[in-house]
Amino acid sequence: MGWWCAPMMLLLVPWLPGVHPCLLCFLAPTDQRQLCRYITGTSAKDTQHQLCLEALLKAAEPLASVIVGEEQHMALQKIIMDAVDFVKKQKGKKSFQVSLKEAIKKIWVKLSQMKEAPACIPPCGNQKAARVFQCATCHIMHCPFPLDCPVQEVWARADEVVTLHCDVPFAVPPNWSITWMFAKDMRTQDLTLFEELQTSEEGPLSLTLWGPVQGTFACRLADLYEPFIRKYFYLNVSGQNVEAEQGLQARLRVVLRWPHDVAPLHPMAWLGLGLALGSMTLVMLLGTPTVPLGAQVTVI
Ligand SMILES: *[C@@H]1O[C@H](CO)[C@@H](O)[C@H](O)[C@H]1NC(C)=O
Repeated sequence: MGWWCAPMMLLLVPWLPGVHPCLLCFLAPTDQRQLCRYITGTSAKDTQHQLCLEALLKAAEPLASVIVGEEQHMALQKIIMDAVDFVKKQKGKKSFQVSLKEAIKKIWVKLSQMKEAPACIPPCGNQKAARVFQCATCHIMHCPFPLDCPVQEVWARADEVVTLHCDVPFAVPPNWSITWMFAKDMRTQDLTLFEELQTSEEGPLSLTLWGPVQGTFACRLADLYEPFIRKYFYLNVSGQNVEAEQGLQARLRVVLRWPHDVAPLHPMAWLGLGLALGSMTLVMLLGTPTVPLGAQVTVI
């Protein structure tokens, strides 16, 4: 079915007197008068003509509940115009009342064969595929959600592998791109605070972190023209970090106190570890392939 009643939406759009639904979204007042002139053979001042216009409005009323996917908008228009043509062709064969009733019936039958538009899926994202044309207002309605999703908490240990998923529960338009961003140490949705890590065309929808870093990761999905969703993940990294860093400093101090003629076992390794766990990792996040100890970001 390509239409359905959406009481919530209709509640948001109170009935406006003078707004004639659906049938008349595509049939301007002049077209209505033309139709009634043709049907009745009378001018606008004539009672027959007035009755014809009233019948048209009354017949249109039940169609106010019709909502079709935005993409079906043209198909809906064709259905309505075909029905108007049908009424015209019945002139002289049947009464206007009867042919109008039949025309409306035909409209409902065709509407019932149309594909249903996908529903808006909360809580976020500009879901173009779920846009609908609403007969009650003769307007396209967008899903009433913001671009920014709420921040998801991700708890992780510093020695864990964490994968963040940017997939969305609605149809993604073609030619999309994904951008990953990071705001170190912060729990934020302020885009000015993020560093861009990586953009890819129709790329993988997940980001894997070997050795997660405290802060907010964000992914942004965009089509050719604009972003359509932004997801946020606050990585609350526990364990190891502080102790490891303290332990490391102690070991580095030991290394520094070693006599010159006695080489420590792997001084560069300790240094690498210090870099990896210390004030961190944007370098690593940017995917430097030679970061020691596997602390780097890889996209799968
Ligand atoms: C991180 O998680 C810990 C333990 O659940 C919690 O106590 C702390 O408040 C969290 N930190 C932030 C900034 O949310």
